[in-house]
Amino acid sequence: MSLTSTTPRPLIAGNWKMNGLSAALDEARAVAAGLDRRPAAARVALFPPATLLHRLAEAVEGSFVLVGGQDCHAQAKGAHTGDVSAEMIADAGGTLVIVGHSERRTDHGETCARVAAKAQAAIDAGLEPIICVGESLAQREAGEAVAFVVDQIRNSLPASLTGKAFNVAYEPLWAIGTGRVASVDNIVEMHAAIRAELIARLGDQGATVPILYGGSVKPDNAREILAAPEVGGALVGGASLKAKDFLAIIEAA
Ligand code: PGA
Repeated sequence: MSLTSTTPRPLIAGNWKMNGLSAALDEARAVAAGLDRRPAAARVALFPPATLLHRLAEAVEGSFVLVGGQDCHAQAKGAHTGDVSAEMIADAGGTLVIVGHSERRTDHGETCARVAAKAQAAIDAGLEPIICVGESLAQREAGEAVAFVVDQIRNSLPASLTGKAFNVAYEPLWAIGTGRVASVDNIVEMHAAIRAELIARLGDQGATVPILYGGSVKPDNAREILAAPEVGGALVGGASLKAKDFLAIIEAA
């Protein structure tokens, strides 16, 4: 992507989802070592499962690798068995958190209002949220993709974002984990619509919020996707599990 003084560095975010035991820390160390050898143009973050967050943060401490959580609760603490708060993620060494991933929306019935509350909690805890949106295949085939995603943006962003660092990730559901990538035309159209909504909402700040693309980003398609207008990074699932693939994507940014 072409960088201007107001354009933040692209963010390449590796979402490990529910993958990774202790041995996977070696992959994180390999990413950190790779970036030490060849510092990247992009910011780089790994999102391990909550069980590995603290150890991974320690394993990559002092490197270029940022660490984040895959989700957080909207409350700071309390009687919410199984949940993790934004404050806990920060305490474990995280500086970012993904909220509203489609797998959370689908598996846990998360609404846009809940996603907005989680993003607010993240900001309150000093974390940088990545707020995810994306349409289903049925919505795309019905020609409703742009309207649906813009509506998700309207309702998933918390009220007080002014001056706060955050990112949006556009992840069409039909491209996640399927090997099927959105066409560059689809990506450009959607990112432009998201950008317009961000500017309508936040003025100048909205012009610089990174909009990541996610959905089957791999070493062989990353360069073309990351070069597209308004693509400010990538949210990478499967290909972030192996340092070699993830580093190749980082290098494409
Ligand atoms: P994928 O996942 O790269 O495996 O398609 C992307 C995501 O869901 O964040």
